[in-house]
Amino acid sequence: MSDLNEIKLEALLDIINSSARQAIAEYKKTGHGVPSTDSSTFHPLDLISDTLALRKAIRLLEGSYQQLCSTLAPPQHTVFSFVHNYNWACIDVVMRARIADVLDRHPDGLSVDKLADAVNLDKSKTAHVLRALSVVGCFKEVARDIFANTRLSLILKSTNDAGCITRIHSQYFSKYAGVLYETMTDPEYARSYEVDKAPRVFAFRKDGMEGNYWEMMRNDDESRDIFHRGMIGHSEIMGASAVLHHYPWDKVSSVVDIASGIGAFSMPLAKMFPHLRITNQDLPEIMKEAQNAWQKNASESILNGRIEFVVFDLLEDVPVAGKDVYYLRNIIHDWPDAEATKILHNIRKVMEPSSRVLIHECVLFHAFQEPGVETKRSSIPPEPMLPNFGAGSYNAFQQDLCMWLAHNAKARTLDELKTIGAAAGLVLTRVHDFVDTMAIEFMIAQN
Ligand SMILES: C[S@@+](CC[C@H](N)C(=O)[O-])C[C@H]1O[C@@H](n2cnc3c(N)ncnc32)[C@H](O)[C@@H]1O
Repeated sequence: MSDLNEIKLEALLDIINSSARQAIAEYKKTGHGVPSTDSSTFHPLDLISDTLALRKAIRLLEGSYQQLCSTLAPPQHTVFSFVHNYNWACIDVVMRARIADVLDRHPDGLSVDKLADAVNLDKSKTAHVLRALSVVGCFKEVARDIFANTRLSLILKSTNDAGCITRIHSQYFSKYAGVLYETMTDPEYARSYEVDKAPRVFAFRKDGMEGNYWEMMRNDDESRDIFHRGMIGHSEIMGASAVLHHYPWDKVSSVVDIASGIGAFSMPLAKMFPHLRITNQDLPEIMKEAQNAWQKNASESILNGRIEFVVFDLLEDVPVAGKDVYYLRNIIHDWPDAEATKILHNIRKVMEPSSRVLIHECVLFHAFQEPGVETKRSSIPPEPMLPNFGAGSYNAFQQDLCMWLAHNAKARTLDELKTIGAAAGLVLTRVHDFVDTMAIEFMIAQN
């Protein structure tokens, strides 16, 4: 028995070794060598949109590393570390005080006295925050009380789109998460799957908050701006741009980006595939912002008439009819089953026999093998890793919780997506695995 356990540990060590080597090879392919934790600039690979091979290696590395550590470390140590983690609070301070922006003007480092003065905080408390984050490579203390940015802390600059979504989580989602147990025991909230019974609403109800997330943002220009920049950042964080490189867009003529936001997906798509006709559809205030964003960043696509902006309410209206692909990124997981089915049903009504629906978001896989359930997953991890890659699929499971916290909704398994698709008259035809996200293709079901 103990021999078998040791064999498993050796196998995990091998996976760690080989996956780390795969990641190193991906960096070296750029011709710029490997990154260093304390570098104060991005590596060129940090800035490109197709990092699928790197992410496949990291999924194995993170999954096997966590499994090895939690096997070898004392359980008290491991479990306490799950909650003994206030990095989110330190990051919240850094982002709201714009500490990384100030340090960016001092690449060799700035004394904490001057830094704290510049952001109007206490110097000793500021040093506490920065030292806690430096332990994990986010900032570095180059000499006693002198701090500088690293490749990680650059994400926390106010100009960084990934920083925008990071701030939404540190500042707001932390509050929703703080009332999770209360919502699970409150008579009104505990068994409700209504959107207006999300932990977010519970957390703010004393402030008179009502309605869904989108209604909350309708009259708040600043929050909307941060959110839509955050969606661009979210795509970078999740590596979702892989869909631009690994889906056969050259065989498609027209795409509707359902609930497009300002075009985090459709704008790069238009730039990479100039033959595509693209329709952006979202709420009225978002379509107005989208038009401004496109005018500023992709006016040539608008001028040559390939891009249209059509206001709609995805729960009430059908989208523009007869297009090749109806693409929904980070949409279905925002809604409970009844609404998610309605959205797909509205699309189904306007599809041609050859049209496809592409749902692109995090998908959950079980940590156990289920006989008879088709996973359609292209990559299966080597044993003894958990079949769902364990901590290698951390992002998908955290995203699932986020959807619950904000919308009383969820990320889904492939089977759950199949079920809501079938209820809307659609059948799952193909699955594209982009590591943190998947693009699930549906067509009209033939009865
Ligand atoms: C999570 S964002 C995703 C945006 C974009 N698809 C992306 O991945 O960057 C959800 C989008 O749904 C839109 N939305 C919410 N409720 C809507 C409704 N009733 N009708 C149309 N769009 C809606 C929001 O305005 C927002 O742009």
